[in-house]
Amino acid sequence: MAGGQGTRLGFAHPKGMYDIGLQSSKSLFRVQAERIRKLQELATKQFPGKNGIITWYIMTSEHTMLPTRTYFKENNFFGLQEENIHMFEQGSLPCFDFNGKILLDQKHRIAKAPDGNGGLYRALRDSGKLEDMKFRNIKYLHAHSVDNILIKVADPIFIGYCALQKADCAAKVVEKSHPNEAVGVVCMVDGKYQVVEYSEITQKTAEMRNIDGRLTFSAGNICNHYFSAEFLNKIGSTYEKALKLHVAKKKIPFVDNAGKRITPDKVNGIKIEKFVFDVFEFSDKFLTVEVARDVEFSALKNADSAGKDCASTARKDIYNLHRKYIENAGGKIEGHVEEIEISPLLSYAGEGLEDIVKGNIYSCPIHLTSS
Ligand code: UTP
Repeated sequence: MAGGQGTRLGFAHPKGMYDIGLQSSKSLFRVQAERIRKLQELATKQFPGKNGIITWYIMTSEHTMLPTRTYFKENNFFGLQEENIHMFEQGSLPCFDFNGKILLDQKHRIAKAPDGNGGLYRALRDSGKLEDMKFRNIKYLHAHSVDNILIKVADPIFIGYCALQKADCAAKVVEKSHPNEAVGVVCMVDGKYQVVEYSEITQKTAEMRNIDGRLTFSAGNICNHYFSAEFLNKIGSTYEKALKLHVAKKKIPFVDNAGKRITPDKVNGIKIEKFVFDVFEFSDKFLTVEVARDVEFSALKNADSAGKDCASTARKDIYNLHRKYIENAGGKIEGHVEEIEISPLLSYAGEGLEDIVKGNIYSCPIHLTSS
């Protein structure tokens, strides 16, 4: 899902093009592409003679489609085959002021915004991607936000587990760190699975704990999902139109009554969004899989000035994880731990490093590459 406007980050290009400042200067898209390449290589090695190809469907929006396409082309699809990368565009919806009046973006054009990451289902259907999945005999899919630097793209363990369990829909979650952490929680409400946003939960409920001391509502949603192709088809054909519309209050540039374009400095209007997780309630076999935050989740939402969920924290999280990969494989790191990067082309998730690092003593910066 790469159709968001990334307003909090304040980057003039699609968020997937963002370079968080690793030694390699790799963007989010490049890191993800290389993880796919490595996984294809591992799959082909494990099952010789079988087709180890992963198809990558990238949801873009009106604003991100062209630059994303150009970026991939200019970078030669990061070594993947063009025919296995499919970009498709999500829809958009008008923006309103607080009196319900549609805002104008230009004198001749209404203000519109992408219809939220839940626009995925309609866009997959309308762009013919559901048909493409059938054509390619794709049965299982992994869907994630573009902005998680630790994302295990197409995680074979997650997909395999969900497939074995015959799940139709699943969510990876991380344990909520404290009652007030600003993440939605996956839970069951009136017999239906859903995500309750942090703004929708009362303080008392957020603070409830089990006997073992863990938060009762601890399953932090991280926009990381499994779907069976069959489930996506079912959503596309039957449930998509029943998806809730959510109101997001935002700063929306507009043309005022005097014809002047204003860029507001405070919230002035409403964007309407659908959320990717709103399909959970339509699942017949829903699963959650709790994963370790330090291994799988570090979101890039903000500029560095925010001090959290920003490029600095994303880098730090990569360094820490890659330090563990080296140490687990028998390498030692001396001195200050910083700037440790392992190319995804060398290792997808820490595997295969023993022969390279065992018995070695490193000092930072460390950059392990495949060549
Ligand atoms: P966020 O809700 O965090 O939005 O998206 P954002 O666009 O990245 O950032 P802000 O809120 O404007 O600062 C979570 C994921 O969903 C995708 C984003 O690209 C991100 O991967 N998304 C969001 C879409 O694909 N389409 C949308 O309409 C909204």
